[in-house]
Amino acid sequence: MATSLTAAVSLPSSKSSSSSTSALSSRTSSIFSDRISFPKNSAYTGGISISNNAVTITSQVTTTEAAPVKVEKISKKDDEGIVVNKFKPKNPYIGRCLLNTKITGDDAPGETWHMVFTTEGEVPYREGQSIGIIPEGVDKNGKPHKLRLYSIASSAIGDFGDSKTVSLCVKRLVYTNDQGEEVKGVCSNFLCDLKPGSEVTITGPIGKEMLMPKDPNATIIMLGTGTGIAPFRSFLWKMFFEKHENYKFNGLAWLFLGVPTSSSLLYKEEFELMKEKAPENFRLDFAVSREQTNDKGEKMYIQTRMAQYAEELWELLKKDNTFVYMCGLKGMEKGIDDIMVSLAAKDGIDWLEYKRTLKKAEQWNVEVY
Ligand SMILES: Cc1cc2nc3c(=O)[nH]c(=O)nc-3n(C[C@H](O)[C@H](O)[C@H](O)COP(=O)(O)OP(=O)(O)OC[C@H]3O[C@@H](n4cnc5c(N)ncnc54)[C@H](O)[C@@H]3O)c2cc1C
Ligand SMILES: NC(=O)c1ccc[n+]([C@@H]2O[C@H](COP(=O)([O-])OP(=O)(O)OC[C@H]3O[C@@H](n4cnc5c(N)ncnc54)[C@H](OP(=O)(O)O)[C@@H]3O)[C@@H](O)[C@H]2O)c1
Repeated sequence: MATSLTAAVSLPSSKSSSSSTSALSSRTSSIFSDRISFPKNSAYTGGISISNNAVTITSQVTTTEAAPVKVEKISKKDDEGIVVNKFKPKNPYIGRCLLNTKITGDDAPGETWHMVFTTEGEVPYREGQSIGIIPEGVDKNGKPHKLRLYSIASSAIGDFGDSKTVSLCVKRLVYTNDQGEEVKGVCSNFLCDLKPGSEVTITGPIGKEMLMPKDPNATIIMLGTGTGIAPFRSFLWKMFFEKHENYKFNGLAWLFLGVPTSSSLLYKEEFELMKEKAPENFRLDFAVSREQTNDKGEKMYIQTRMAQYAEELWELLKKDNTFVYMCGLKGMEKGIDDIMVSLAAKDGIDWLEYKRTLKKAEQWNVEVY
């Protein structure tokens, strides 16, 4: 079923862009309206099968009043209207750079840029998807460069609310190789150096792992390191800066963002504004690894910050409408698993098994690199 909605964006006052309204289509079905919850101190075994339009979960819960539970669920990935791979490397979309701004301080270790490209509505993406970029020029063999993937940092209606742009958050890759030479990453440097008006070759959109849950009352825990913030900016704009006829977020959004220094905190002002607007619905925690430590003097990584709320997070994870999303550095996944293992063990639960069940129910969503 397709219905139309009218969406209006109210941009943060610090931005100089104008607001506007736009029309776009969206299906109004809610994801996982019926879910399984696992009682405390229970053991379970289960099976999951995925067919065209439904995920069927069979779960055997062993408690005093245990009974097998069978629940039909609709996967977010089956939502109609999600476009994947409309543009491929042989048939890319050529957009233009509208603006490109460095969003890290001059003393930050490394540069991160926020950039907006025109799409004229031709690249119909959803929050949580990525696009491919083919950098200009050729590789050392004289062949066109291969595409690189970037998580989309704007909501589906774009930073200007007219569904005609897509934004990225890109870290400029620069490193020293074994020979002591400075090497610049091809695509990230191409993007960070793009001037307004320049052409940019786009493929996609792609990816379904990081799509948002539709349930407006869900608890959404977002774990991002560095540019891994991109999909969460897109979620949070939809939740707190936009008005949608068929979506009004009234759950809990909890963002943990890990960065090296306070000068590399990305989109901080936007998130603080969201917190002012919706203090009951938004929690915000930063982990600034090179400036902060915990009580034991350990480096403040995202998982170190999460550990300070361990019990609370574990209680939330037991709810059937809590959805965790992780994006950024690959290393963060193990650190987060490590704190979850001990929490789950307190309830006699094997974390890795529980995580598998959460993953299958689309409650544990990971895109790390
Ligand atoms: C799904 C997905 C989403 C992504 N989203 C984003 C995003 O939102 N923002 C973002 O900035 N990036 C994102 N990335 C990463 C992005 O795709 C590129 O990999 C990144 O920008 C580097 O590309 P490049 O062309 O600049 O570097 P390349 O020229 O491709 O060079 C990268 C290569 O350099 C080498 N290298 C890198 N660092 C070092 C080092 N320290 N020492 C030695 N060798 C090294 C490695 O061999 C590496 O493969 C994402 C990746 C994926 C898979
Ligand atoms: N969807 C995706 O796959 C996706 C999307 C966006 C970005 N990315 C990738 O994610 C990475 C983000 O890098 P960035 O340069 O933007 O980040 P950054 O600014 O360097 O921040 C990364 C933060 O994570 C910390 N960190 C390092 N190791 C960690 C670990 N094991 N566990 C937890 N935290 C850890 C860093 O601390 P210290 O530096 O102080 O050690 C730093 O505070 C890039 O490689 C980017 O390409 C992937």
